[in-house]
Amino acid sequence: MNVAIILAGGKGERFGGEVPKQFVVLHGHRVMDYAIKAFEQHPGIDKIIIVVPANWKAEIAIEYPQHLVVLGGDTRRESSYNGLIACPEDTDKVLLHDAARPFLDYDTIQRVLDALKKYDAVDTAIAATDTIIEVKENIITDMPVRDFLYQGQTPQGFNYKVIRKAHESIFVETTDDIRLAIEMGIQCVSVAGSQFNFKITSSNDLYMAERVTQIIAVKTAEAPQLDGKKVLIFGGTGGIGSALREILRSQNADVTALGSEVDLTKDTLPESLTRDWDIIIHTAGIFIKKPFSELSVAEWDRVMAVNLRSAFLVAQLARKTMKQGGWLTFIGSSSSHRGRTSQSVYAASKAALNNLTQSLAAEFLDDNIKVNCINPPRTDTPMRHQAFPGENRDLLADPGHVAKDILKYCTGEETGHIVNLKYSTQFRAKR
Ligand code: CTP
Ligand code: MG
Repeated sequence: MNVAIILAGGKGERFGGEVPKQFVVLHGHRVMDYAIKAFEQHPGIDKIIIVVPANWKAEIAIEYPQHLVVLGGDTRRESSYNGLIACPEDTDKVLLHDAARPFLDYDTIQRVLDALKKYDAVDTAIAATDTIIEVKENIITDMPVRDFLYQGQTPQGFNYKVIRKAHESIFVETTDDIRLAIEMGIQCVSVAGSQFNFKITSSNDLYMAERVTQIIAVKTAEAPQLDGKKVLIFGGTGGIGSALREILRSQNADVTALGSEVDLTKDTLPESLTRDWDIIIHTAGIFIKKPFSELSVAEWDRVMAVNLRSAFLVAQLARKTMKQGGWLTFIGSSSSHRGRTSQSVYAASKAALNNLTQSLAAEFLDDNIKVNCINPPRTDTPMRHQAFPGENRDLLADPGHVAKDILKYCTGEETGHIVNLKYSTQFRAKR
C-alpha cells in the first residue's frame, strides 16, 4: 500500500503568529487541509498519516477520523520518523510531504508515484531561477553554476523499507528525508515539482498563498449532479446565463432564468421568487466602457446597483429560501483583480463582489449555504461584442465552457472560493 505522511508537527518559528503556520486559516481552510485534500483525491494513495504537535492531536483526530493522527517530534526528522513507524506493516511506498505546502497538485503526486516504480528515492524539485550563492558571515564563499541547481520541494517518495533503514542508520542533521537516502548511498532521482508548491515559511508567504488560492485552476470534479435541482438564474438571458440555462435544462434541472423582467435596482425582489431554491446564480451585470472623466454619478449608481447592490438582495433571498442549505454563486469578472482603463465602475463593482463572497461564505456556514464567486475571462457574449466591436473572437472564451465550470461550483462542498477561470486562448489575449 502507498502511504502519504503529512508533516504538521513544526512550530513555525520563522513565521511567528499565534498558531503554527500549518494551522493558520487560508481562504476558509487550514493550510494543512489543502495537502490532505490533494492526497485524498489521488487514487494512488491508500492511507494518510498526519503528524502533529501534542497540543493539536485531539482536535485534528476528531476532524480527520478517517486518517491516522500521530505525535510529532522536536525536529522535522523526528516527526517524519514518527510518521514512518506508524505506517501499516504492508506499506510499500511512502510520500512525505510538508503540511506547509498547500498547493500540492495531482500531477506532482502522480510523477512521484510513477518514478517510484523504478527508483527507491524520489525528490520533487524546480529549477533555481535566481543565482544561488553560498554566504558565510556576509562573504560569498561559493557560487555554483545555476544550470545544475534546483530547489527541493516535497513530496519526497520512498520505498518504505529503504527510508526506514536510512532513518535508523544515518544520523546527520537534515531538513528533509532525501538527504538521509543520499547519505546511505541510495540513488535518488528528481521529478518536476511546481512553482505553486512553495512552502509557507515567513508571513509574506501567506500573503502570496492568499493570492494563489484565487488563481488555482477550477476543480476537476466529476460532472455535478443537477437532476431535479431547483435553480434560479439572475441574468439568465445574457451570454453566460443562456449557456447555463441550456446545460441545466439538458440535465433535467428545474430552471427559472430571469432577464430584464426583474428590476435589480429596486429595493426588494418580487415576492414570487420566495421558493425553495437549491441553487441561485447571479450573473446579471451591466458594463459601461467610458473614461472616468465622462462618467456621471447616475451611471455609477446604475452599474453599482445592478452589479453589486443586487447581490445583497439575492443573498437575502438565498438566506430566506435555502432552509436545507444550497449554493449561491456570483459571477464576477477578470476585471475584479485588474482595474482597466475606461472600466472603473465595472471593475470596482466586480472587485467588491469577490470580498462580499468571502464574507457571506463565512457568515452562511451555519446555514449550510455555499457561496462562491467565479470570475470568467473575457467571454464571447453579446455584452462583450457591444462594448468591444470587432474584437477577435478566437481570443474569447466560449460561454459553454464557462458555464460548465461555473456549474462545478453549484454543487459540492467548496465555499468562499474566488475562482479565476483561465483557458489557453486567454494566455494569448492582450491583458
Ligand atoms: N515539521 C514537523 N515537525 C517538526 C518540525 C517541522 O512536522 N518538529 C514540519 C513543519 O510543520 C512543516 C515542515 O515540517 O510542515 C517543514 O518545516 P519548516 O518549514 O521548517 O517548518 P517549521 O519547523 O514549523 O518552521 P520553523 O523552522 O520556521 O520553525
Ligand atoms: Mg523548521
